[in-house]
Amino acid sequence: MSIPGTDDDKLQLINCVSCHTLERVVKSSHDAEEFVQVVARMNGYAQVSQPIKPQRRVDLSRAANPERFRKVAEYLATINLSAGMKHEFELKTLPRVKGRGTNVVITEYDLPRATIEPHDVIIVNGEAWYTNFGEQFLGKIDPKTGKHTEYAMPELRKGFPTGNLDLGVDRDGNLFLGMMYQGGVAKFDRKTEKFQIWQLPPERLRDDSQINMVTNQAHVDGKVWMNDAGPSTLLRLDLATGKFEEFDPLSMLPGGRQGGYSIYDVRADSQNNVYVTDFQKNYVIKVDAKTGKFTAYQTGTPLSRNRRGRIDDQDRFWFAEYRGNKIAMLDTKEEKVQEWPLPTKFTSPYDVIWDKNGDLWTGGMTTDRVIRLDPKSGQVVEYPLPRDTNMRRMFVDNSTTPPTFWVGSNHGASIVKVEPLD
Ligand code: HEC
Repeated sequence: MSIPGTDDDKLQLINCVSCHTLERVVKSSHDAEEFVQVVARMNGYAQVSQPIKPQRRVDLSRAANPERFRKVAEYLATINLSAGMKHEFELKTLPRVKGRGTNVVITEYDLPRATIEPHDVIIVNGEAWYTNFGEQFLGKIDPKTGKHTEYAMPELRKGFPTGNLDLGVDRDGNLFLGMMYQGGVAKFDRKTEKFQIWQLPPERLRDDSQINMVTNQAHVDGKVWMNDAGPSTLLRLDLATGKFEEFDPLSMLPGGRQGGYSIYDVRADSQNNVYVTDFQKNYVIKVDAKTGKFTAYQTGTPLSRNRRGRIDDQDRFWFAEYRGNKIAMLDTKEEKVQEWPLPTKFTSPYDVIWDKNGDLWTGGMTTDRVIRLDPKSGQVVEYPLPRDTNMRRMFVDNSTTPPTFWVGSNHGASIVKVEPLD
C-alpha cells in the first residue's frame, strides 16, 4: 500500500507474505544482485516455514535457476533500504475501523510453543481442533477451560518437512488431515483417539510429494480425494482397499501441463464429485466421480489465483480469490460464477465461509482483518485483529447468536475467536 510501484509490481509480494510479513523485506538492505540469491533461498523453504523454524524442501527445483528471479529482485531493491538509511516513501496505514467493526469481542487462546502454527481450525462439539502446520501434531483446545491437548502423529518420511494442512470432519465425526510432505492422509477417530494413516505407495512417493487437501464425503462411495501439490495431480483413495487412482485435471486447460497451473484446494460435493481450484490463473475444474470427466470454469477476474473454499448444502462452491481480492461462488447447477469484491485493496483473502444468516466471512493474509460480507447488499464490516496473525482456514460456529468466527494465528501461535456483538 505504501511502497512505490504498479499494482502488478506489488502483487508479486503476495508470494512473500506466507512465512513472514513484508517488514523483513522493506527493512533489508540487499541490492538486486543479492535479492536474486535471497529469493532463490526463500524458494527453497517449505511453505510450513517461519523464521523461528525454517524447514528446507528436499526437492529444490523451485529454488533452481536464480536468474529467473532477477525481475522481482530488481523491484525489491527499489522498496528497501539498499539506497540509504531512510525509505523514500511514507508508511501509510489503513483507516481506523469505526462503527460495527468495533462492536466485537476478540479472544486469543495462546498455545504453549511459539512454533505451533495452527493452520486449519474447526469447531467440533464445542472444541476447537487444529492442524499444526509445522509439527507432527493434531491439537485441540477446550474454549470453556482453555485446556490444550495434542495428539502426536508419526513422522513417515524422516528428513522431510513436518506439519499438516487440511482438517475436515466427516459425517461420523472423524477428522481427516492432509499430511503434506509426509506424503499421506490421516483419519483421526475422536472416540478412540487413534490415527489411521494412508501413505502414498512407493511408486507414487516423490521428493516433492505434498498431500495438502483431503475431502470428507467418503460416506457416498467410500473414497476420499486429495491433491499432490508436488506434481499438482489429483488422487482418489479407496479407504477400504487402500488403492490410489490418479487424475490430471490441469491437462485439460489451455496449454495443458505446460500452462503453468497448480492445484490449490480440493472439495467434494454431495455426490463426491470433486472441484479443484487453480492457484496460478483463474480456473476451477470439476471431476465427475462416476465418469472421471473434467469440466473447467473460469472466474471473471484474470489471474484471480483461486485459493480455498467449501461446498454448501446446495452444492454451491464458495472460494477466495487470493490475487483477485474477491470472494467467488460457483453455482454448480447453473454453472455460473458470481464474485464479490473486498473493499480493502491487497487484502489477499485465503478462504471463505458463510454463517446461518447468509453473511460471508473471510480474512486477509496481509491485512489481518476479518471480513463479514452481506452478499445481498455487498456491504462489509471489517474487524481488525490485535496482531500479526496470517489467517488461513476460517470457521464459523453457528451455535451462537450472533455466529462466532474462528481462525488460527498461523504466525502468533494462538487460536483466535471473534464474537461480533450484532
Ligand atoms: C516459504 C517461506 C518463506 C517465503 C514464502 C518467503 N520467505 Fe523470506 N524468510 C523465510 C525464512 C524462514 C527466513 C529466515 C531465515 C533466512 O533468512 O533464510 C526469511 C527471511 C527473509 C529475509 C531476511 C533475511 C535476509 O536475508 O535479508 C528477507 C529479506 C526475506 N525473507 C525476503 C523474502 C522475500 C522477498 C520473499 C518473497 C519473494 C520471501 N522472503 C518469501 C521464509 C520465507
